[in-house]
Amino acid sequence: MDALESDYSSKDRPSIGQEARWVAPPLEWSAWGFLVPSKAHPRKSEHVSMRLRELANSGIRLPEIGFGTWNYRGGVEPLRAAIECGARLIDTAESYGSEEIVGEAIKGRRHQVFLATKVLPRNFRRNDLIAAAERSLRRLGTDHIDLYQLHWPNLAIPIEEPMRGMEELVAAGKVRFIGVSNFSVRDLVSAQAALSTQRIAANQVRYSLIERTIEGGLLEYCQKNGITVIAYSPLATGLANIRAVDPERVLRRVAQASAKSEGQVALNWCISKENVIAIPKASTVAHVMENVGASGWKLQPELAHVLEKRIRYRRRGALEMGARRAVRWGMQKLGRWQ
Ligand SMILES: NC(=O)c1ccc[n+]([C@@H]2O[C@H](COP(=O)([O-])OP(=O)(O)OC[C@H]3O[C@@H](n4cnc5c(N)ncnc54)[C@H](OP(=O)(O)O)[C@@H]3O)[C@@H](O)[C@H]2O)c1
Repeated sequence: MDALESDYSSKDRPSIGQEARWVAPPLEWSAWGFLVPSKAHPRKSEHVSMRLRELANSGIRLPEIGFGTWNYRGGVEPLRAAIECGARLIDTAESYGSEEIVGEAIKGRRHQVFLATKVLPRNFRRNDLIAAAERSLRRLGTDHIDLYQLHWPNLAIPIEEPMRGMEELVAAGKVRFIGVSNFSVRDLVSAQAALSTQRIAANQVRYSLIERTIEGGLLEYCQKNGITVIAYSPLATGLANIRAVDPERVLRRVAQASAKSEGQVALNWCISKENVIAIPKASTVAHVMENVGASGWKLQPELAHVLEKRIRYRRRGALEMGARRAVRWGMQKLGRWQ
């Protein structure tokens, strides 16, 4: 079945369109070197296919390239293009100021979209969390959130509090899956222990060619425990940041050798990892189309190897992570961290 017909609306059965991939509209290279929707071929023919990846062990298959909306100023068009092209996991947050525009973009298309949003740590008390979810639902113009994520750990509020609220939201049919974001292995273990009927479906964490801290154990933990890793800032918040640590222009050369764009290679590298899907932000239709084209093909292993070895990257160690955690704990105790 063409997964453009996929339906994320059912709460009981897996979404349809369960084949490993779906077909997106055709793309072609523009004079500026971007992939854009082909004018020569209307939207029927088969060109780009989006691979699907199972969310945790839920039976729901998500596109391996989604759409992020932090600092999003693109209006409804790029969002609608993303939905049309199969990037149907849309990520937002109560703190992004983008829930309204997402709500507008998905009007009439809600069933096609897997909607993820987040609650701020300051709203982790059970009552606050439920009230925050209700506000997000109103802004999004929907009756349920597919994936509701704790945005950051709150080290000053016991994890049992938000998880109690989360399970109540699931029981009420307002949330389908519980997710977390920026959680370490330690945070994940206690978060799962605080849940009595649900499992944590996903952990949204920073991951890109130049930010590889999760390879220090978190990625493996999620893979072993069936927790989907949603890679945020997969383009390092902008390709210029990758180029800044890539003086040999390895990314560009790998892109040329693969007949892809640099953005597509950077994203494809992320999703080449087991259990990882990526949510690039794109403010233009051209960027959306290009990013969708990061799915459906495989980077040659030797080229992936060159990317991993020759581009400088950061992998924070346990000591640095511990220090950052201590600072966060202190700020959260003082109420200075959202
Ligand atoms: N959970 C968290 O704590 C957290 C933190 C940060 C982000 N996130 C999520 O992750 C999403 C993505 O991360 P991000 O927004 O930080 O950064 P990102 O997706 O790594 O990079 C976005 C930047 O890349 C550009 N871009 C997009 N497609 C491109 C392409 N094909 N070629 C060249 N440039 C391209 C965008 O430009 P244009 O905008 O001009 O298209 C934008 O400047 C966020 O929007 C948010 O949903 C979550």
